[in-house]
Amino acid sequence: MKYEETWNEVEEYISRKVIREPPYMESALKRSINSGIPQISVPVTEGKLINIMAKAINAKKALEIGVLWGYGTMNIASAMGNDGMVTGLERVEKHAEIARQNIKEAGLESRVEIRTGDAMESLISMRDSREGPFDLIFIDADKGPYADYFRICLDLSHQGTIIFVDNMVWRGRIIESDSTDEDVIGIRRLYDELEKQDGIDATVIQSVGSKGYDGFAVIRVLRDTHK
Ligand code: SAH
Ligand code: DHB
Ligand code: MG
Repeated sequence: MKYEETWNEVEEYISRKVIREPPYMESALKRSINSGIPQISVPVTEGKLINIMAKAINAKKALEIGVLWGYGTMNIASAMGNDGMVTGLERVEKHAEIARQNIKEAGLESRVEIRTGDAMESLISMRDSREGPFDLIFIDADKGPYADYFRICLDLSHQGTIIFVDNMVWRGRIIESDSTDEDVIGIRRLYDELEKQDGIDATVIQSVGSKGYDGFAVIRVLRDTHK
């Protein structure tokens, strides 16, 4: 892609000029690299947006589906006061372990609980036990069940809940209507769900940079949907 080099340089410029991150983010990133965790956390520009959004809505209860090494988690937890709580769902034990270390080193452990296991199982038991409602939800795990995650997240929402969803452009592959790829199909199912849901306000922003060509959805729940 012709613009790739420019995108990366621009991202680097933006990061340097405008993104302020706490010093623990750098050592957390290093720990993730040293432990061989895939480098698929959200771009810093998106992480900062989630952080600002959490502050803007004064989020006190947040849910993250797909924690990895805790970058998104820490962006949400650091936006909260000591009365805040982030619940993170992560299937891979090693990711959860590194994330817990990072979160502890950041001094955020009293505001974060990471639950290991399959996200769908965790979400179903959360709904069954009437957990929530959450003020902010970040969906960023496997793409196949995205629409199912979203529907269950509505059951864990209240009026005004903000739902962020990463990877909503997937290198542009989301327009491949005849795709047999389970990720593409999964993300497209979420678009179908967004199309037919009338209780939400939503947008998708395309993005480029070090994490390639992708994008994210920002959704606001219009009515109380807590089950
Ligand atoms: N939100 C993170 C990045 C998440 S990457 C950030 O921006 O910092 C996706 C994560 O989802 C990976 O850690 C992966 O192990 C996890 N994951 C994938 N499928 C899952 C599932 N079914 N249940 C729980 N976690 C899952
Ligand atoms: C990939 C990127 C992501 O942001 C994610 O959540 C999962 C996978 C990837 O590039 O493979
Ligand atoms: Mg992602």
